[in-house]
Amino acid sequence: MAFPLHRSRRLRQNANILRLVRETRLSADDFIDPMFVCEGSGVRQEISAMPGVHRCSIDQVVRDVKESHRLGIPAVLLFGIPDKKDAVGSEAYNPDGIVQRAVREIKSAVPEMLVCTDVCIDEYTDHGHCGVVKDGRIVNDPTLELLSRMARTHADAGADVVAPSDMMDGRVGAIRKTLDEAGHENTIILSYAAKFASAFYGPFREAADSSPKFGDRRSYQMDPANRNESLKEVWQDIEEGADMVMVKPALPYLDIIRSVRDNVTVPVAAYHVSGEYAMVHAAARNGWVDGEAAMMESLLSIKRAGAHMILTYFAREAAKILNR
Ligand code: PBG
Repeated sequence: MAFPLHRSRRLRQNANILRLVRETRLSADDFIDPMFVCEGSGVRQEISAMPGVHRCSIDQVVRDVKESHRLGIPAVLLFGIPDKKDAVGSEAYNPDGIVQRAVREIKSAVPEMLVCTDVCIDEYTDHGHCGVVKDGRIVNDPTLELLSRMARTHADAGADVVAPSDMMDGRVGAIRKTLDEAGHENTIILSYAAKFASAFYGPFREAADSSPKFGDRRSYQMDPANRNESLKEVWQDIEEGADMVMVKPALPYLDIIRSVRDNVTVPVAAYHVSGEYAMVHAAARNGWVDGEAAMMESLLSIKRAGAHMILTYFAREAAKILNR
């Protein structure tokens, strides 16, 4: 590829040639739109560290889902913010809990929308951990039963996809078995397979009021230093029945996204998390970066790294630009 025979800039001369040789393209098809649903009606409360993202009551969430659908986004992901929390997260698997009711309303208002639900009890426990706590430790196996019940009530309500984000061992297998026994053999499992113990979840924990009240999540979420282990997690979840696997967060873990994409044959999702979203907004508000350009470059990079789908709070904003 020696100069002057080869000049790379020949293929960068104008917009048309750039369009022809572009290797990665984003579209609204790539996005899953995360939403926070709370009790009440007419509630639309902005999350301070996440401008443009709200905690909404069901009626308002339905409005947002309709907008998402109009923009061509294929899926939404629901997080519940219950009024009541307790030690075992009972509201998480209440058949009439906040997410279960939201799923029913969304499915009746916008049946074409793929509805995914986050399966994890941390938003529902008073201690804020993703598992049952015994003697100050997060215990694995007793948590599996609760997660399975939670997933089942979501599927009963009509969820198309359940997405376990707790990082307990064996939860995908337990959930698959429970779903199948309940006749939900077509419910899809999107597992948060390589989920790292990350600082970038900060704004989410404010949104969902789910910060752990003691300790941290490092005994169940992955060590950010480990790449081989992420493949072990991913393979294990696929063996247990995960239909799709997720890497989370996204931008600091692009190498993980690429290695997962190269090593598995199931679809790979990447979660562009709350802190990644907040940073773009914070810098843009200060005039330090062009927010729109930084958003599009971030999402494009996640796709280029190998993600088939991107969970992002920018979903609607980016779709509007892509549809222009
Ligand atoms: C756990 C869960 C978290 C996120 C998604 N599911 C928080 C955590 O593990 O502490 C984070 C998402 C984000 O930061 O955008 N239910």
